[in-house]
Amino acid sequence: ASLKSYNTFGLEAKAKFFQEVKSEEALKNVLQNNQEELLILGGGSNILLTKDFDGLVLKNSIEGIDVIKESDDYVIVKVGAGVIWHDFVLYAIEKNWGGIENLSLIPGTVGAAPMQNIGAYGVEIKEVFESLEAIHIKTLDKKVFLKDECEFGYRESVFKHTAKGQYIITSVTFKLTKKEHTLNTSYGAIKEILNQNGISHPTIKDVSDAVIQIRQSKLPDPKKIGNAGSFFKNPTIDKLDYEMLKLEYQDIPGYVVSENEVKVPAGWLIEKCGWKGEKRGNIGVHKNQALVLVNYGNGSGDEIKQLAIDIRESVISKFGIHLMPEVNFI
Ligand code: EPU
Repeated sequence: ASLKSYNTFGLEAKAKFFQEVKSEEALKNVLQNNQEELLILGGGSNILLTKDFDGLVLKNSIEGIDVIKESDDYVIVKVGAGVIWHDFVLYAIEKNWGGIENLSLIPGTVGAAPMQNIGAYGVEIKEVFESLEAIHIKTLDKKVFLKDECEFGYRESVFKHTAKGQYIITSVTFKLTKKEHTLNTSYGAIKEILNQNGISHPTIKDVSDAVIQIRQSKLPDPKKIGNAGSFFKNPTIDKLDYEMLKLEYQDIPGYVVSENEVKVPAGWLIEKCGWKGEKRGNIGVHKNQALVLVNYGNGSGDEIKQLAIDIRESVISKFGIHLMPEVNFI
């Protein structure tokens, strides 16, 4: 089976076997009878396929949005892993539930969201996360992971480390607010858009609309140009190293993350190395956001990988900073 339409980079790769599951029972059934190597796919928005997959690709399409508990202040809602993340965001906004409006338009599925603790515009999923359910691939036992057990960090969770490859997430439960005071408009561009539109008391929907506007202006739509969002993580460096760099590059942005550490935008570093808008045959670096690698058409995973290696090396030689990929290589 071709995986081209199942990865947002739009890369051609074949799977020996492919199966879509729509319920927990169906999932258990498949797992029980499977002898093949497994690749679990959500929205395919964070993977780079560099070759054919000699095993079983499992597409998780478990649906459902169910309110489990509700009060005047908040709602606890359980969402199937296969629900498209942005569809859930739109559902919440329609109900006027707050907490995920800043995470509008992030590609991928609900089940994939906790894996890398998705985040944007000052909000991370861990802030609204209650728990998740997952099936252990070998024993088929169901396990509930509470927030602490997920070990969330910046684009990190236990599912990328000690629990890697052991579980399939089947649902995620969120706690969303029914009051509007939780709005986070700290991110500069959100403020600007709200100001431009003369909105001084934004609603949940206003913030979501602003985020959508920002994303559409900077990030390529994967339906039109293949991409997986940010290709690298933003690196954290020593404060002293940051201050040294600042002497040479007065405009280098940085966010203090701890007493001795500063996070630097990888997009800025990559742009300074001259890569922004670079075209290399069928692939390249997005013209509006240097952190996003793109496939214009018939590019291959290997070409993207090589471009990423070259970018990484040039950032090391210019700044002495080692970029780490955010995307998973398959
Ligand atoms: N910048 C440049 N040149 C570029 C890109 C960015 O100089 O080509 C500078 C900007 O001027 C700005 C800074 O870098 O000062 C930050 O840029 P931006 O706001 O676009 O965010 P980012 O740090 O590049 C991160 C996330 C995004 C998320 C945005 C908004 C990571 C790896 N990426 O990008 O997440 O949407 O912040 O919060 O943390 C994703 O993970 O796939 C993703 C898109």
